[in-house]
Amino acid sequence: MDLFEYQAKELFTKHGVPSTPGRVTDTAEGAKEIAEEIGKPVMVKAQVKVGGRGKAGGVKYAATPEDAFTHAQNILGLDIKGHVVKKLLVAEASDIAEEYYISFLLDRANRTYLAMCSVEGGMEIEEVAATKPERLAKVSVDAVTGVDLATARSIAEQGHLPAEVLDAAAVTIAKLWEVFVKEDTLLVEVNPLVRTPDDRILALDGKVTLDGNADFRQPGHAEFADTDATDPLELKAKENDLNYVKLDGEVGIIGNGAGLVMSTLDVVAYAGENYGGVKPANFLDIGGGASAEVMAAGLDVILGDSQVKSVFVNVFGGITACDAVANGIVKALEILGSDANKPLVVRLDGNRVEEGRKILDDANHPLVTQAATMDEGAAKAAELASA
Ligand SMILES: Nc1ncnc2c1ncn2[C@@H]1O[C@H](COP(=O)(O)OP(=O)(O)O)[C@@H](O)[C@H]1O
Ligand SMILES: [Mg+2]
Repeated sequence: MDLFEYQAKELFTKHGVPSTPGRVTDTAEGAKEIAEEIGKPVMVKAQVKVGGRGKAGGVKYAATPEDAFTHAQNILGLDIKGHVVKKLLVAEASDIAEEYYISFLLDRANRTYLAMCSVEGGMEIEEVAATKPERLAKVSVDAVTGVDLATARSIAEQGHLPAEVLDAAAVTIAKLWEVFVKEDTLLVEVNPLVRTPDDRILALDGKVTLDGNADFRQPGHAEFADTDATDPLELKAKENDLNYVKLDGEVGIIGNGAGLVMSTLDVVAYAGENYGGVKPANFLDIGGGASAEVMAAGLDVILGDSQVKSVFVNVFGGITACDAVANGIVKALEILGSDANKPLVVRLDGNRVEEGRKILDDANHPLVTQAATMDEGAAKAAELASA
């Protein structure tokens, strides 16, 4: 999960990375109040999870609280690369002598961590990498030894930071490594890391990506979730522990096992070409134990998608045999009652397939059609969705 700048800075503050004081708000009045509180010139900063806010007019200097009000009015609602600004960070404006770049990230290709540092901060780092690659240091970081002060200083030195600030920069860089490790992140990036005229080092921007796989040991991170931006169906699926991803199509998909569901998406998209370009509406893997409750929860999420016109349930019975899955489908339709209102194509195969098919035959639910193969099921579901 990517964090907003203000959230990244909360983590920075927690680990002693210096920045300038500030607070977040969602109104122009709020921006004015924060500016009054700070009592000095401020920056009004759009909080969107995309870079280049400054260039897009989302970061403005305000000498007075009135200016902060005006800028806030202009920035709120602004569309920055498809992200609409709903929140602002109002932070004390700092005097800047120089702008640097520093980041830590997971370097998957080299199976290690990577520090990147450059004296050429402020502008986009891709540009530095393209135009002045010799000014951008890439230093691999050993996961076991990590980054102590000496390593941090060496990273800063390789990034060509001036000698006078190496010690101060090293302290901050070592703390940023602490953020990277202790907060279980995949990325910590500060651009710009600034040098003030009196040679202090401040993180004026912050980008942090949290590693969702570590959520279980980072209970504090739950509050960072941006429920506003999450698709409501995905949110509902998450509450039910379902592996669901909303897609832009008409055929709802339920399967067991990520591999089977992935190939079901392909087969449905392929079959859909014969029916006016009908496409899969989602990815949903109900996993191994396809109980009636899980099936009902899955169907409930899919039927909540107004774009869905038909549903394809594609299950290969393994440890959870087809008869258990068939019972699950029948019970799920009972649980949902009149909320189940779209045709269902069910393809069962594998362990106890005959018993499973018989259960569905006997139930004789008006919405359910069975298919013998995956291709046949996909074609049927696509046809029903195009009707
Ligand atoms: N608190 C601040 N004080 C002074 N200047 C700032 C402050 N925050 C940002 N800036 C200036 O605005 C520029 C853009 O802000 P930044 O937070 O880096 O947004 P983005 O990277 O999305 O454009 C920075 O490079 C810096 O020059
Ligand atoms: Mg920046």
